[in-house]
Amino acid sequence: MYNTYNVLKVQKLIDKRQISFLSLKRVNVLIYLDNAATTFPKPESVYTSIMNAMTNYGANPGRGSHAMAIEGARIIYETRELISELFNFDDPLRTIYTFNATDSLNLAIKGLLKKGDHVITTSMEHNSVLRPIHELEKYGIEHSIVQCEKDGSLNIDDITKEIKDNTKLVVTVHVSNLTGTIFPIKEIGEICKKNNLIYLVDAAQSAGVLDIDLKKMNIDLLAFPGHKGLLGPQGTGALIINNNIVLNQIREGGTGSKSSSVYQPDFFPDKYESGTPNLPGIAGLNAGIKYILKRGQKSILEHEKKIIDLFINEVKKIDNIQIYGSDDISSRCGVVSLNVNEMDSAEVAYLLDTNYKIAVRPGLHCAPLAHKTLGTEDSGAVRFSFGPFNTEKEILIAANALNDISSGKYN
Ligand code: ALA
Repeated sequence: MYNTYNVLKVQKLIDKRQISFLSLKRVNVLIYLDNAATTFPKPESVYTSIMNAMTNYGANPGRGSHAMAIEGARIIYETRELISELFNFDDPLRTIYTFNATDSLNLAIKGLLKKGDHVITTSMEHNSVLRPIHELEKYGIEHSIVQCEKDGSLNIDDITKEIKDNTKLVVTVHVSNLTGTIFPIKEIGEICKKNNLIYLVDAAQSAGVLDIDLKKMNIDLLAFPGHKGLLGPQGTGALIINNNIVLNQIREGGTGSKSSSVYQPDFFPDKYESGTPNLPGIAGLNAGIKYILKRGQKSILEHEKKIIDLFINEVKKIDNIQIYGSDDISSRCGVVSLNVNEMDSAEVAYLLDTNYKIAVRPGLHCAPLAHKTLGTEDSGAVRFSFGPFNTEKEILIAANALNDISSGKYN
């Protein structure tokens, strides 16, 4: 009846390969609406690519000249090319693999800023931006945080107002992980270009869904995870270092290149990629991006817009539900956060999980200033986040469940 997310299907794929050491348990979720945390399920090709990497060429890429190491290195390079194609960017070697968007943002922020510099960001950022820039206070790096509107939107003139002589960097999210608000990154990029500032975009919730064009938009640094909209596995992410920018690396170690030297190589990408890379993860990411390129980012976006429109319209019919973020559906993407009556967001998520097998995320979503902006710093919010495989039927079931909860069925 429901579109069951088929962990079992994965099990079958594994069975076909007769890999017995992995035993997957069916998890207790039928409707997965926590795609902003990580997308699930992934396209089948992602699971098979990871398996293929692990079983057929799982050597250490770049560390040997045998066929398995070369195949690993080939997949890693091919994935850089796919990333370049997706974001319209010319130099695949300026894509730096990381563990996730947080890791990419740390590299960008800490690799760039020096004592005496000033950085501008906004109140809708995730802690993956807020914590590094607050940590840098200790090293004499200043910041300004532009206060966003109550619906999570940004007035871009407020960025201009914060520019000072020592401002070096502007960091903004592309899509808020709390309200789904789409930030005007093209316009912010123009402000940065005009004022000779470096622009870092946190594309944690937009990469793979919204158009990001590094040739048309003045984005100097693009940080994104591999495991959300790009449909790869956890433990993957990247930072694109555009426009001839050079950062300090934040870790050193083996790169498989210039092994005679005790100093870190100074060329891309090795300067920033120390240690054995996540080959199975990158092989899965490769398949995720190929899926997106084949299905078309536009069609994924249209699907998600349809789903989100339906969800908002259905939920608006229910009494005592407060939806956060803009009323203009065209200015949001992927995420709808809400509260039901005066109920604790964790309780609502618990009822959805235990009674309807619906997975959502309650609480504060690692974005404390965004919650202050909305006025939900005490209550938190229940976040529904959608992905390319959610169906209209699932949305109707989720809205129906909210109606039950709101009307006191479990009081
Ligand atoms: N940053 C992810 C989220 O918003 C984990 O849920």
